[in-house]
Amino acid sequence: MFGGDYNPEQWDAATWAADDALMREAQVNTATVGVFSWALLEPAEGSYSFDWLDATLDRLHANGVRVVLATPTASPPPWFTLAHPDALPVRPDGSRLWHGSRDTYCAAAPAYREASLRIAAELGKRYGSHPALAMWHVHNEYGTMCWCDHAASAFRAWLRARYGSLDSLNEAWGTAFWSQHYSSWDEVLPPRATQYLPNPGQSLDFRRFWSDELLARYVEQRDVLRSHTPEVPITTNFMGPENLVMDPWSWGREVDAVAVDHYLSSASPVAGAADIAFVSDWARGIGGGRPWLLMEQAPSTVISDGVLTHRSPGRMLSDSLEYVARGSDSALFFQWRASRAGAEMYHPALVPHAGPDSRMFAETVALGATLSRLGEVAGSVPVPASAAVMVDASSQWALQTRGLPSPHVRHLDVARAVHGALWRSGIGCDVVAAGADLSAYSLVAVPAVYLMSSSSAASLRAYVAGGGQLVVTFCSGIADEQHRIWLDGYPGVLRDVLGIRVEEFHPLQPATSAGLVADGGSWTGRLWTERPRTERLWTGRLWTERLRAEGASVLAAYDSGDLAGLPAVTKHSFGAGTAWYLSTLLSDDALAALLGSIADAAGVPASPPGVSVTRREGTDGRSWLFAFNHGSSAAWVPTSGVDLLTGVAVAGTLEVPPGRYAVIREEAR
Ligand code: GLA
Repeated sequence: MFGGDYNPEQWDAATWAADDALMREAQVNTATVGVFSWALLEPAEGSYSFDWLDATLDRLHANGVRVVLATPTASPPPWFTLAHPDALPVRPDGSRLWHGSRDTYCAAAPAYREASLRIAAELGKRYGSHPALAMWHVHNEYGTMCWCDHAASAFRAWLRARYGSLDSLNEAWGTAFWSQHYSSWDEVLPPRATQYLPNPGQSLDFRRFWSDELLARYVEQRDVLRSHTPEVPITTNFMGPENLVMDPWSWGREVDAVAVDHYLSSASPVAGAADIAFVSDWARGIGGGRPWLLMEQAPSTVISDGVLTHRSPGRMLSDSLEYVARGSDSALFFQWRASRAGAEMYHPALVPHAGPDSRMFAETVALGATLSRLGEVAGSVPVPASAAVMVDASSQWALQTRGLPSPHVRHLDVARAVHGALWRSGIGCDVVAAGADLSAYSLVAVPAVYLMSSSSAASLRAYVAGGGQLVVTFCSGIADEQHRIWLDGYPGVLRDVLGIRVEEFHPLQPATSAGLVADGGSWTGRLWTERPRTERLWTGRLWTERLRAEGASVLAAYDSGDLAGLPAVTKHSFGAGTAWYLSTLLSDDALAALLGSIADAAGVPASPPGVSVTRREGTDGRSWLFAFNHGSSAAWVPTSGVDLLTGVAVAGTLEVPPGRYAVIREEAR
């Protein structure tokens, strides 16, 4: 799928005609329509105006463009707000938000639910058999939370289902502290603004509640649409991992295709590619390894600290191929044509304010031409990696709780650091959920997975006992799934596997670092060499801790301060496998060297550092190899077939010059 969000309701007939011609020129085949169109589709409660949407779908169809049709429920019209003020969202401090932007609703409010299902049903009825309809796009980026009374009563119902009794809830939230004991369900509230620190268990459960509540809202719209069109796939677009209000692992099962919006976090090509790799591997993981859809990306620009920055020419194309290499079946954008007015009028678009006579549109045409040569790849399945990184929404949320040892430790930052180190070492990686079946992996990394149930820990234990290589970082397995500390030394639930015991946390201020010395040896590149104990080997940041080895061997120790001489990095044989522990966030190079060595020893296949090689397989025995060289020297990749981008045959070895990429249709192996 190539194209993106299309908002013809902002334009006149002359522009529509121009759009048709430009879409043909760019070989656009997909348009996402109607995302925020509620006020135009239902200008007054119960009265509909579908003429413009009828015309749009007919026109797109005639032009060979398939439609991903959205339900517009992410932006209720002004009349809705005025008629149902109780459905407006309320912030933790009790203030209510007004219309005038978007996403102005409480998803738990009965009036909002009713109105959403009504408009979804109308769309299902009217467009279910339209030949342009390719897919339903429910809502847009579910992600609003609300602290109103409707939310409070839905939260209580959710808690009752989870805990069964108030006693269990009191126990789980530790309400014996600070006189928070609840004697009746009616006393339980959302975590609204409080005098001092909120209750961690309550805050965590509220996040989980909203994930489930929003999922229920998605499912009810989905089921209405499905009743009209049982054959048409239905999805919703997720925000990237950092901004996600939901736990994506529970959503992955409910969508027909995982669809993700990804706005690059960095304008730098290498950091950008690492970001794409992480988010793509995450998206693929959510769908259980299926191909997925990149539903939105920004053409050209990255907004960095509020300032608009451009990707350099050519990168929109190479970045789009990076997503495809890691399982995306689409390159869709927000948006087709830059708006003249409205809140996002400066947001980049495939057709910019300057019009088609522009660098941006020329790149759009080039991308369309390239993607048209890759159509055969769509639907093929990405080959699973041998290494995996664990990502856990509850740990991300729990580590954001105020009152923890450091506000600077974020699960996803550590997960990205570990994933990035593997990526820089040329090691392909899957992203897995806590509790996932790990048996197929040779190496598993657990990066600041702060909350860990005894059953997740048991699966890690079984994985190592069975011969797996496990790398665990600081801040993993510290508390149970209710955010209650595992006692008798951290990380209580993994101590035996790791052969260590942590007594105290010594987090670091952001500008400081800790020195590490080799305890008998060190890695140079990927080789273990004997080193004098006095030579500073690595640095760590963010976190250090007072750690005792209890069975583990010490690979590196802290070189100064109160922790001088105490273990920093350890290794423990457990059953048939090995568990490694990193008590600090190693510098990027050190992390890459260490993980690269562990991966080598575990037999994980790797490309040269900085080179990313992935494969997708078709059902007919065909496969496609994608190679990107982010390094500074040429790389050689074993493969035979034909380069779909250039048409050149490859026999045995593909040369990929620095900064270049290739897509090879491989001969049947
Ligand atoms: C999101 C939304 C779009 C648009 C873009 C702008 O992903 O879904 O409607 O606001 O962000 O970056």
